[in-house]
Amino acid sequence: MKKYRFSRREFLQTIARAAGATLAANAILLNSEPLFASLPPLATSDRVRFGIVGVGMEGSNLLTTAIQLPGVECAAACDLYDGRHELARELVGKPIPTTRRYKDLLDNKEIDTIIVAVPDHWHKQVVVDAVAAGKDVYCEKPFSHTPADGLALVAAAKKSDRIVMVGAQRTSSVLCAKAKELYDRGAIGALSLVEATLGRNDPTGAWEYPPPADLSPENLDWDTWLGTAPKKPFDPLAFARWRCWKEYGTGVAGDLLVHLISGMQAVLGINEIPKRVSAFGGIYRWKDGRNMPDVHAALFEYANVPVSVVSG
Ligand SMILES: NC(=O)c1ccc[n+]([C@@H]2O[C@H](COP(=O)([O-])OP(=O)(O)OC[C@H]3O[C@@H](n4cnc5c(N)ncnc54)[C@H](O)[C@@H]3O)[C@@H](O)[C@H]2O)c1
Repeated sequence: MKKYRFSRREFLQTIARAAGATLAANAILLNSEPLFASLPPLATSDRVRFGIVGVGMEGSNLLTTAIQLPGVECAAACDLYDGRHELARELVGKPIPTTRRYKDLLDNKEIDTIIVAVPDHWHKQVVVDAVAAGKDVYCEKPFSHTPADGLALVAAAKKSDRIVMVGAQRTSSVLCAKAKELYDRGAIGALSLVEATLGRNDPTGAWEYPPPADLSPENLDWDTWLGTAPKKPFDPLAFARWRCWKEYGTGVAGDLLVHLISGMQAVLGINEIPKRVSAFGGIYRWKDGRNMPDVHAALFEYANVPVSVVSG
């Protein structure tokens, strides 16, 4: 296999494509080339050094993928739970520096790029601080926790000259690229309705994740984890199942519908907000104290196309 080195932009695009390929690979194999095979060779000085903030479920996937790319190196990892420092070192396979303070990574001049894989309620602050510190950023979807966070994030990205990429991987996947090619050449014909569903009909799909067995206020900085959310005593279930509560997550909309909408927009070439939307949801099955719906349906009118999305 040829060895290529990555520019920062190519690095960010490639981890997004790699993550998207996981979604696509189960369904159809469209391109057997390695994801980075078409990139031109780069000088050794273009080595990309990244730091990762959040090494939980998604962060550990991103870290595993990112360190496989040639010319790319993990320089440090940050997490508020010390158990994930050990995990990061195991994944990288060498004793990288780890910390609870993401600002340590931002102060590190050796780091070019920050991968942000913290819960939704922390996205804004980490991304805003990272671009202010001169870092390029790959942030997991959903970009924002609230509309106000979204405006602040876009303003911060526009104000800086940094690359800011959101990891809604479907938009970077080979499956979406193929669908777009078919749509653009008229193979699908005139479009009068888009229907999309994403159902995960089991406890894991409903975010009933177990907290780490050893989690405690000694090995987790719980107060910082809460961030701007209302203060409350240490709660291992909130740590593991934060998607269930609006104080930290964005529910089905930000967890699942976002993939359907971003994929649809990428295929149809739509980059605008909908003209109209109506939505409803509720807690129909998981009466476990959550305050986010477990079923969510929405009907949008986008650029003269009705789009129906349902998830739960
Ligand atoms: N693109 C996808 O398909 C996909 C899949 C899963 C998750 N995600 C997204 O990834 C993000 C993380 O989700 P997850 O499932 O990995 O969550 P997780 O709870 O498993 O991991 C989050 C980690 O971030 C750490 N953390 C929280 N606040 C922090 C802070 N201020 N500084 C440092 N570390 C902090 C936590 O201790 C935890 O280890 C979410 O935004 C989620 O929507 C995307």
